[in-house]
Amino acid sequence: MSVFRPPRASDVRPAVNSSSLTGKNLIFSPVFAGKVIFLQFLFGEYTTDVKISLEFNELENYINDFTNSIVIADNNTASIAEKFNKKYKLPHCILESGEENKNWSSVEKILSCAHNANLGRDGLFIAFGGGVIGDLSGFAASIYKRGCRFILISTTLLGMVDASVGGKTGFDFLEIKNLAGTFYPAEKVFIPLDTLSTLPQVEWKSGMAELIKTAVLCEDDVLFNMILENIESLKEYKSANKELLLNLVEKAVSFKGSIVSEDPKETGTKRVLLNLGHTFGHALESACGLGNISHGEAVAWGMVRSCELGCALGITPKERANKIIGLIKAFNYNCASPYPLAKEASTLLNAMKNDKKNKNNALRFIVPDAKGARSVNIESEKDLNTIISILKGEITL
Ligand SMILES: NC(=O)c1ccc[n+]([C@@H]2O[C@H](COP(=O)([O-])OP(=O)(O)OC[C@H]3O[C@@H](n4cnc5c(N)ncnc54)[C@H](O)[C@@H]3O)[C@@H](O)[C@H]2O)c1
Repeated sequence: MSVFRPPRASDVRPAVNSSSLTGKNLIFSPVFAGKVIFLQFLFGEYTTDVKISLEFNELENYINDFTNSIVIADNNTASIAEKFNKKYKLPHCILESGEENKNWSSVEKILSCAHNANLGRDGLFIAFGGGVIGDLSGFAASIYKRGCRFILISTTLLGMVDASVGGKTGFDFLEIKNLAGTFYPAEKVFIPLDTLSTLPQVEWKSGMAELIKTAVLCEDDVLFNMILENIESLKEYKSANKELLLNLVEKAVSFKGSIVSEDPKETGTKRVLLNLGHTFGHALESACGLGNISHGEAVAWGMVRSCELGCALGITPKERANKIIGLIKAFNYNCASPYPLAKEASTLLNAMKNDKKNKNNALRFIVPDAKGARSVNIESEKDLNTIISILKGEITL
């Protein structure tokens, strides 16, 4: 008897030749080709190719079959999408930008656009944008006719160093971030650094926090030191050395890709480490009201709190905590606790209780250790009181 199996993206993608994968991380060694870098990852049953380039015009060499496709962007990235689509004139779906539009209604718009364009199961969604467009388009692709093809052109620093790779998709619901979602990696990710020239400074700074997070998680200090040695120039896109930026993005993507390839659905102990600063940070984002503080600003604040927690629990060496906090402060993030917009420890604590990372009613935090980071569960009243003291600003380093 034959069994019906819904089609998966892997059905319409070239299968990866696993014999050519290097090492246990299931990641191809990066290929440096002048000012372009190629990477490939195996995430469970899916492969993702990544091309990082200084220039947007490298896109056409990367994607060559645009039949049966729609273009997705938001009102700020529509002009970037148009640079490509003026030639192909594909049906397009332009969403309102921002976290407040990362909702079901935006997913519906994408699905309607695909339906109106008569896209079949082998249809392709080509999304241009940051983490919001990436998460929404990836989610819509994962459910359209039970899964169609998906390519992402990442246009924010946060998207480039974090959100674009790894397959988490979703949208916010009932005022809870990413309450609904799927794992559905893009088949191709294109990272054109020159699109960052129009990115608002606040968004550049938001992405820089995720880059610092990755640097803290890496067990060697290479990425951390590259940032530390270039703090002043990395404060803005226009002053950043573009080849340095290419290398920073490659290191961040390689790191995230290798973690995700070992734990594609976050069932193990490694992928969850990518949430360093996020239990505190997500709570701050919801306490401030979604969209009122950038994701990265909240993560930077959360990383400082994680250092305080790690020190209080005897996990983070004080010298390392001070080094991390020093780097975060050097980029002028607001590190003070309580945070001016959300001073109530009880509100933050309630938000933490909704965190998807929690297991068996324990709060889960990622804290830096001597090298990298580790996950801790907070259950005892004594440890909960430590969290409250941190939120009230009673424990500082
Ligand atoms: N899937 C994942 O693994 C993952 C990881 C981290 C974060 N995220 C999600 O990513 C989201 C945050 O992503 P983000 O910071 O990229 O936000 P975003 O997508 O909202 O982009 C930020 C702002 O910049 C604008 N913009 C984007 N590119 C631009 C450009 N080149 N020039 C001018 N304006 C531009 C956008 O329109 C938006 O207003 C959150 O929803 C978060 O949950 C997902």
